Amino acid sequence: KQYSEEIAAFSPSSSADVENFRLKFLVSKGIVKTLFEEFKEVSTEEKRVLGKVLNEFKQLAEAKFKDAQEQFASAKVDLKNEDDLTLPGQGFSLGSRHPLSLVRKEIVEIFKKLGFIVSEGPEIEDDWHNFSALNFPPEHPARDMQDTFFIKKQDGNDMALRTHTSSVQVRLMEAGQPPFRAIMPGRVYRNEAISARAHCFFHQVEGLYIDENVSFADLKQTLYHFVKELYGDDTKVRFRPSYFPFTEPSAEMDISCTICKGAGCQLCKGSGWVEILGCGMVDPNVLDNCNIDSKKYSGFAFGMGIERVTNLKYEIKDLRLFSENDVNFLAQFESEI
Ligand code: PHE
Repeated sequence: KQYSEEIAAFSPSSSADVENFRLKFLVSKGIVKTLFEEFKEVSTEEKRVLGKVLNEFKQLAEAKFKDAQEQFASAKVDLKNEDDLTLPGQGFSLGSRHPLSLVRKEIVEIFKKLGFIVSEGPEIEDDWHNFSALNFPPEHPARDMQDTFFIKKQDGNDMALRTHTSSVQVRLMEAGQPPFRAIMPGRVYRNEAISARAHCFFHQVEGLYIDENVSFADLKQTLYHFVKELYGDDTKVRFRPSYFPFTEPSAEMDISCTICKGAGCQLCKGSGWVEILGCGMVDPNVLDNCNIDSKKYSGFAFGMGIERVTNLKYEIKDLRLFSENDVNFLAQFESEI
């Protein structure tokens, strides 16, 4: 009886307690076995009563031991002789910044030094901010330049996933008066089939500079400085005439190929030039739409894809790598900060 109480009260606080319990009750010279030995000696009548008590006692002891063993099983360290406790532990990897984040940061830093602030806006936009304010007339074919994902709304005022961060330029201009000097990094969406060269979303940094007497020369020099900072002093630039509804005149800027391997070059197909951004002088209609005096103020805007800039910098040939989260790809940027 005394032992039954001891067993019932047994609550081990370590695996050593559990082992002591086993040694006391369950080994071949332990209490349980000993009691069974003594049991052989008692009279037949006593056996009848004691037999049952003894069996219950044994079961109780065994059950208690099993519970206790399970309780400490997970904490048990199974040391073998050959385990070398002086070996260093297993390291864990810290991860790395995404290449697009690295490059976005670099772009932002360059423009910050020129006095540009960072401005952000919503990814779900209305027609006004993504198109109309930017001089895309309704039904104008220029709207098809960017295949758009529309979001149907019950009240008929459909929304869209922004196709460029020019929408943020509109929001910025609506909210104040010049001078403006800002860049707009962000994710944009276009309804395109996914391949190595196109994706249904990508990232842009656009820029806007509005003040009195801002000229095309300012645009050229700003972008030239940017490219030299990013790709090195000997990078060359050239401007080709282009068309955007929100700038006039408009241009596309090429830079001298960053990896040029001559005629067989994958990046520029041997031409020596790669396109990197679109730009132009902000169309007076856009300024008027944002309540800015287009007689007094002028300015320039530009927009580039961060993916494109990153591809040129790191020679990445497949856009899909940026969104697949393949650790082997991402780990290559570990040493970059
Ligand atoms: N918004 C244009 C695009 O996404 C880029 C651009 C911005 C061009 C500003 C000119 C001026 O293609």
